[in-house]
Amino acid sequence: MTTSVRDLQERSFGATLRRDAWWIAPALTALVLGSFGIYATWAAWVNRSFEWGPYLSPFYSPLINAGWWPLSPAFLILIFPLGFRATCYYYRKAYYRAFFLDPVACAVGEPRHGYKGETKFPFIIQNIHRYFMYAAVVFIFILAYDVWVATRWPVNGVLPDGSMGTGPTTFGVGIGTIVMAINVVLLSCYTFGCHSLRHLVGGQVDCFSCARGGKARFQTWRGVSALNRHHMLFAWCSLFGVALTDVYIRLCAMGVIHDVRIF
Ligand code: FES
Repeated sequence: MTTSVRDLQERSFGATLRRDAWWIAPALTALVLGSFGIYATWAAWVNRSFEWGPYLSPFYSPLINAGWWPLSPAFLILIFPLGFRATCYYYRKAYYRAFFLDPVACAVGEPRHGYKGETKFPFIIQNIHRYFMYAAVVFIFILAYDVWVATRWPVNGVLPDGSMGTGPTTFGVGIGTIVMAINVVLLSCYTFGCHSLRHLVGGQVDCFSCARGGKARFQTWRGVSALNRHHMLFAWCSLFGVALTDVYIRLCAMGVIHDVRIF
């Protein structure tokens, strides 16, 4: 028996002939994205325990002094990386399924039957993704600089309150330095595999060898494409990376765990 498009469109919400556990992926997505959203909002709201020694949480980087702003400065920072993720092509698919259930999965009945795509308000705003991508690239350099700063240690050690003091510094690497470096690598793999970036570097040319700087553009496009093939994987790994980096530095600042200086 064949199933026509009309059959699928007229199917009531949740009705399906699928026998696999199709609901696991959207349920897990809702759980993980929801948990991250709650944790990130809380971590940004509390406005404390975001630095220890030379370490700085990615939620509060770059450090800004916004005396005019009544809330935590983290909200001024997070609008860029969160906007980048919220408008990401992959995450759109994931949270449309998980939170809007529209569609909840392939070949499963939808709650609405009047699909309008992203051509109308509010979803047309998703097209702003390219501009968030520019900001996200800048953040990669900011976070890479933080890793460099995380290799500068006070000669006499971190003060008991977790601050650096004003004395001379020396090169060193702690567990936190490595955690921050892994976070930047994962974020780079996610950001530099962005679909918008791929289009920007190679999407407007029909013939690389005919275009100006074609060889360099081709190599760049190949690199972005290689990362793009694993965009979903890097989307999740980098999400965990950011959260775990904040958790690690927060626990050090609260005195719950003690950082280990490797050399
Ligand atoms: S499409 Fe996912 S970050 Fe741009």
